[in-house]
Amino acid sequence: MCGIVGAVAERPVNRILIEGLKRLEYRGYDSAGVALSEAGTLNTVKAVGKVANLEAAVAESGVSGHTGIAHTRWATHGGVTEVNAHPHISNNEIALVHNGIIENHESLRAVLKDDGYTFLSDTDTEVMVHLIHQLRQQHNSLLDSVKAAVKQLEGAYGTVVFDKANDNEIIVARSGSPLVIGLGLGENFIASDQLALLAVTRNFIFLEEGDVARITRDTVEIYDINGEPVEREVVESNISQDVSGKGEYRHYMLKEIYEQPMAVRNTLEGRLDGDRVSVDAFGDQANQIFKDVKHVQIIACGTSYHSGMVARYWLEQYAGVSCNVEIASEFRYRESFVHENSLLVTISQSGETADTLAALRLAKEQGYMASMTICNVPGSSLVRESDLAFMTKAGAEIGVASTKAFTTQLVGLLMLTASIAQEKGRDQSVIVNAIKTLPNKLEESLNMAEGIEALAEEFADKHHSLFLGRGSQYPIAMEGALKLKEISYIHAEAYAAGELKHGPLALIDADMPIIVVAPNNELLEKLKSNVEEVRARGGIIYVFADKDSNFASDDTMRVMNVNHVEDIIAPVVYTIPLQLLSYYVAVIKGTDVDQPRNLAKSVTVE
Ligand code: M6R
Repeated sequence: MCGIVGAVAERPVNRILIEGLKRLEYRGYDSAGVALSEAGTLNTVKAVGKVANLEAAVAESGVSGHTGIAHTRWATHGGVTEVNAHPHISNNEIALVHNGIIENHESLRAVLKDDGYTFLSDTDTEVMVHLIHQLRQQHNSLLDSVKAAVKQLEGAYGTVVFDKANDNEIIVARSGSPLVIGLGLGENFIASDQLALLAVTRNFIFLEEGDVARITRDTVEIYDINGEPVEREVVESNISQDVSGKGEYRHYMLKEIYEQPMAVRNTLEGRLDGDRVSVDAFGDQANQIFKDVKHVQIIACGTSYHSGMVARYWLEQYAGVSCNVEIASEFRYRESFVHENSLLVTISQSGETADTLAALRLAKEQGYMASMTICNVPGSSLVRESDLAFMTKAGAEIGVASTKAFTTQLVGLLMLTASIAQEKGRDQSVIVNAIKTLPNKLEESLNMAEGIEALAEEFADKHHSLFLGRGSQYPIAMEGALKLKEISYIHAEAYAAGELKHGPLALIDADMPIIVVAPNNELLEKLKSNVEEVRARGGIIYVFADKDSNFASDDTMRVMNVNHVEDIIAPVVYTIPLQLLSYYVAVIKGTDVDQPRNLAKSVTVE
């Protein structure tokens, strides 16, 4: 979603801002802009489309500055135009960028218009810059004006502002949208994601909800939600800087698919102790919590929700605790029942998904015994606000379509299952022994790529598709359908195969490919009956099946064999061929695989 980069330095900051925006491109956006201040002159350059367009426009304009703010916009209010792109400017004096949504923008706009402000854009953001400009006339400093302005705002914001009259400072404010200060030597930075600043610093301060800060070249002053000065911890980041290289791969998504065996190895490293999960894998207090827990409530969105759906099968079967899984945007707006000794688990690649974060905050008021997050980004809001955190070690995931984050989440959830089983005195060695085989099993499934690439040709002219699975493979079918629709734009739906005759069978014809996930488990015969129901109605079936499942290819069925794996890890392994299928179909269709239309990597607004 939107990205922010800002800098105050002695040297020109153009390059730093553009490079920072490039590092945020993976989040998804549709336009970009930069405002630079030099010797009392404020210049703004904007461009629709890629950051490369902005880069060219900045170069052509020749503008430069030692203080500047830059933004990638993912449109919410107002179309994709240069006028609507950030930064927004008030009276050629104050420049502002904003992530989030201002919900009371209409009433603020009406008041500001009455006070003589002219609005150029259709955005909610423009009210902020005029409001700050208006308040600037009543307050001694920009800092106090911003503090006063945020009191009037409803909604979410991560915002960065400067005034060309005093461009040795930038003022930032956070509520609902993350911001991180980057500390340099004689220069300081701000961004919505530490990845943007890795080329210039490794030392970060993560702002907390309600914080307002004043940043100069040499100083950082932070004020908490009550306006009191606060010290926030400086964190040294060890995140890999190398987010830009696709290496030998054509797309980030393909690279990330192939990184999965390594990502799983990294996630397991140091966390297994013989045939047990190491006690400190989930943090200090985890043992007692796992001993006491009777119910697990999982909250997540999108792909992360699908990993939670898989975990429900595992937790109830192997750990003997009940489990509910809910989409965060639903959970946060209903009155839900909190079971006795209930552990709240959020799952998120980014750790910044607005609905998941809001659900966590709500749940903390509802009497859960503890909260835990399974997350891929250290220092993210979910990690900082949860009692326990299990960090997946997938590394930076750049492709909008989540791949290695999903499989490492599944590994984290398997380890959670084993840990709870362990504390409940159940045998968990079967889980741990199966987990250990995962990296090799994933490597084997990647060997299916060539066959799947050929198969993908058959999907290129299709408009609809149906994914089927049973048991813990049902969520894998859901994830397969999400991947296909997300990057190839083919309509894809997933069903638990037993539901076919309750409606979806009506859809079956030769133009509707049916993708079936069929490991050799106790549900196989049931699944085979479902497949026959589809065949009898003229459907073309694509089965990803265990070698021993005894499916045979013919005119109406293509069988792709998957090496045998233990049932408990089969959901992880069967994910890979479905990812590859979506990838190759998208490549054939020529879509933007890494940044599919209308989507953002990190959904930081509702
Ligand atoms: O960062 P999160 O895991 O919280 O993100 C949740 C979803 O937005 C995300 O999984 C989305 O569904 C992916 N684009 C799917 O590939």
